[in-house]
Amino acid sequence: MMKIKSRGMNADARKWLTLFILTFLCGLIYVYLSNDESIRPIPDVDSLNPQQVELGGFLFNDVRLSKGAQLSCASCHSMTMGGADAQVVSTGVDRRKGNINSPSVFNSSLNFRQFWDGRAANLMEQVDGPIANPKEMDFSWEQAIEILKKDSFYVEMFKSAYTDGLTILNMRKAIVSFEESLLTPNSRFDLYLKGDETAISQRELEGYHLFKQYGCISCHQGVAVGGNLFRPFGVHGDYFKDRGDITEADYGRFAVTQKEIDRFVFKVPSLRNIELTAPYFHDGSQETLLAAVNIMMKYQLGRVPKENSSLLIVGFLKTLTGQYQGKSLKKKGQ
Ligand code: HEC
Ligand code: HEC
Repeated sequence: MMKIKSRGMNADARKWLTLFILTFLCGLIYVYLSNDESIRPIPDVDSLNPQQVELGGFLFNDVRLSKGAQLSCASCHSMTMGGADAQVVSTGVDRRKGNINSPSVFNSSLNFRQFWDGRAANLMEQVDGPIANPKEMDFSWEQAIEILKKDSFYVEMFKSAYTDGLTILNMRKAIVSFEESLLTPNSRFDLYLKGDETAISQRELEGYHLFKQYGCISCHQGVAVGGNLFRPFGVHGDYFKDRGDITEADYGRFAVTQKEIDRFVFKVPSLRNIELTAPYFHDGSQETLLAAVNIMMKYQLGRVPKENSSLLIVGFLKTLTGQYQGKSLKKKGQ
């Protein structure tokens, strides 16, 4: 036991000082233990207003929010494609090719910012983007609300979901509510984190240890296993020079801040449900998870992976596939 220099101190003061030091040490141990796992399980969906979520779901799937009623949010963020579209880059109205890969809308409410370059602070800000983007829906809220006002189904639904009924603000809010409902809890890895040691295999556990040992976790961490940091793509070596054909979509946060230091800096993407959302990276350049992991090893960590380390990590990543509406997520055709 620690001896406290206590000359001139009365017994009471000594007792209190000892108690204080003990409490402080316990606090330190607690903080240390609770930080042991820097990946945390996805919580169950918050108590959202079910009517607003349902309404948002209808809007999310409604092509009338786009020019010429050609596509909906779900065209590029399909629930049967891991919340993305399985394309290298997305295709907007009039078959206009976009310049960047579609990220998943599952768990997007957990991201600290939205878009690859983080230009939207939250989902409410984000939702204006695709409506107006000429390479996506090429429309406006004003045009969309005029169409919905003639549809008694929507007018009635909005009336019962929001006191002020059908407004542009409420259309945006409803879509965001729907997006907030798209959490995917209960992946096998989350069950493991919650104490079920049989939820993942020995090899998958080994993959998790490698994920930590190689340092993937320094960027992909927290509840979304990503989505909470900005980092350069190409920490070790020049990914973009090696790939060639640099476009503006590769500039990352530079497009937002115009600061040279932000060139090629991206939001670290979430790795939740990652097995379902090939092709990978903002440029959609990698078709397999193994290839993506090897690129990370090279350009983010400057490492040549040992033997089957990358394969084991891929095994671990596949345990991050969660459930939506009580069912394990799958990709169409799987
Ligand atoms: C034509 C395809 C397309 C359509 C339609 C579309 N999106 Fe997207 N979405 C994308 C692409 C591509 C990105 C990435 C853009 C970027 O980061 O610059 C994206 C990004 C997002 C993000 C950010 C996710 C993240 O991790 O940063 C959210 C959320 C989102 N879209 C929701 C929606 C909603 C809601 C709608 C309908 C109002 C919609 N999208 C319509 C292709 C599309
Ligand atoms: C220094 C930070 C950092 C480290 C370390 C890191 N990553 Fe990444 N990771 C990123 C960034 C940034 C991206 C986005 C790159 C892009 O497309 O612009 C990314 C993208 C990915 C993707 C593709 C995600 C998608 O949706 O397309 C996978 C998979 C991935 N990382 C896995 C790993 C693995 C496995 C490791 C360890 C071997 C690792 N990462 C190490 C920052 C990092």
